[in-house]
Amino acid sequence: MTQRETWATRTGFILAAVGSAVGLGNVWRFPFVTGEGGGAAFLLVYLLFVAMVGFPAILAEFVVGRKTKRNPVGALREYGGSAWKYVGGVFIVTGFVILSYYSVVAGWFVRYFLLGLTDSYAGHLAAYEEAAAGSEEVTESMVMFDTLATGLDSFLFHTLFMALTVGIVALGIRRGIELAVKVMVPAIIILLVGLAAWAATLPDAGAAYAYYLNPDFGVLASEWASILPAAAGQAFFTLSLGMGVMITYASYLGEDRNLAEDGTIIIGFDTAIAFIVGLVVFPIIISGGADPGQETVGAIFFSLTEAFAELGVGRWLGLLFFGTVAIAALSSAISILEVVTSYVIDEKGLERWQAALGMGGVIYLLGVPVTYDLIFLDLLDGFADGVLLVFGALVLMVLVGWIAPQVAVDELQKGIAPLGSLGDVWIWAIRVPLIVVLLVALYLGLVDYVEFLTGDFAGWVAATL
Ligand code: TRP
Repeated sequence: MTQRETWATRTGFILAAVGSAVGLGNVWRFPFVTGEGGGAAFLLVYLLFVAMVGFPAILAEFVVGRKTKRNPVGALREYGGSAWKYVGGVFIVTGFVILSYYSVVAGWFVRYFLLGLTDSYAGHLAAYEEAAAGSEEVTESMVMFDTLATGLDSFLFHTLFMALTVGIVALGIRRGIELAVKVMVPAIIILLVGLAAWAATLPDAGAAYAYYLNPDFGVLASEWASILPAAAGQAFFTLSLGMGVMITYASYLGEDRNLAEDGTIIIGFDTAIAFIVGLVVFPIIISGGADPGQETVGAIFFSLTEAFAELGVGRWLGLLFFGTVAIAALSSAISILEVVTSYVIDEKGLERWQAALGMGGVIYLLGVPVTYDLIFLDLLDGFADGVLLVFGALVLMVLVGWIAPQVAVDELQKGIAPLGSLGDVWIWAIRVPLIVVLLVALYLGLVDYVEFLTGDFAGWVAATL
């Protein structure tokens, strides 16, 4: 076996972890789950989850990875004992599910990027004018999204995106991943801040801020059973937690860094980006007269194509924006495929390129139905997010909090000063409050998902077959 790779530079690890965290979860998923959850009430619960559950959980993944220097399956087996490898197996399955639809959605961003190359966004929208005429609710931008999000377009761009992901992972972590991240995060932040400043000048920006930032505790009290699992799922998704990405990335650490500091930086960037996306999207949606609670997976596409169509320089901004998000999605997709690939390399002894191509191929096929009908997006995303990620985070907390807490504290202290009682605080936060919250979130998430299966999905099946 060849020697295991490590990150080429000191900042390589942080960049790659930020690259993994920042992606479609921030730009695409965050605005529509926030809309579904009622705006500010959801935002509040989400932020609490990020700080109080996300932070301890990212540290847990880091210590398990750095301690064992293995892929998630091997890492859990070594850390917890042989039965734990099955939990690692769940992580691998989660990676398959998430990446399959992630690639389809990322393909949409590539598609919208290309739109900007061929004509202005206003020009593209004009082509859908007839199809949208005569309806109050349906706008050109929605018809355009519906046309591009499924069918041949979607299929082709899913294929392209998955091919790129496999190619980069096949090249290995040093040459591939570290390189891709360095420009992307600053570019996204600059673009988003600019767009948010423009969105602030829209007529209903004030109403949008109230919706997004001023929580209605009545909504929270009546809707908590759906807000809680959705916020938990979104927090794990956006931070790439619950399926061993951070275990894998920390396993390539050659030196003892301050993991708490690294975790804070990663979480800070990720949360800031999602938050600013909300400042861009909600003023546009509300000023356009739409109800953000009705927004769906297309929200970011409708609102931004309209914005780019209005703005004089919209074509170039749009090009830049969609292109940058596509790259951000690529660095996230890479991290998911890297987990699956490192598992096959370490445990089955395949070559890197064989592992990346084989696993990438299966994931690609799993994503194809999504390009046919978006109900499959809900089917996969609901399961991954509402159930699998929360489950993954929960078992990891049991492992670190109850099975081997001392090892975890010792490992965390390397690269930091001795933690003293802070280490106990961390372990006890994990042991009881976090585990209870995650159990509740998992239960509610399962209930929601079963409801979807027996409701919307069963209805779709009955109507289609
Ligand atoms: N965090 C990424 C995003 O927000 C997606 C992602 C990458 C992910 N790796 C993950 C989600 C692992 C869950 C688990 O776009």
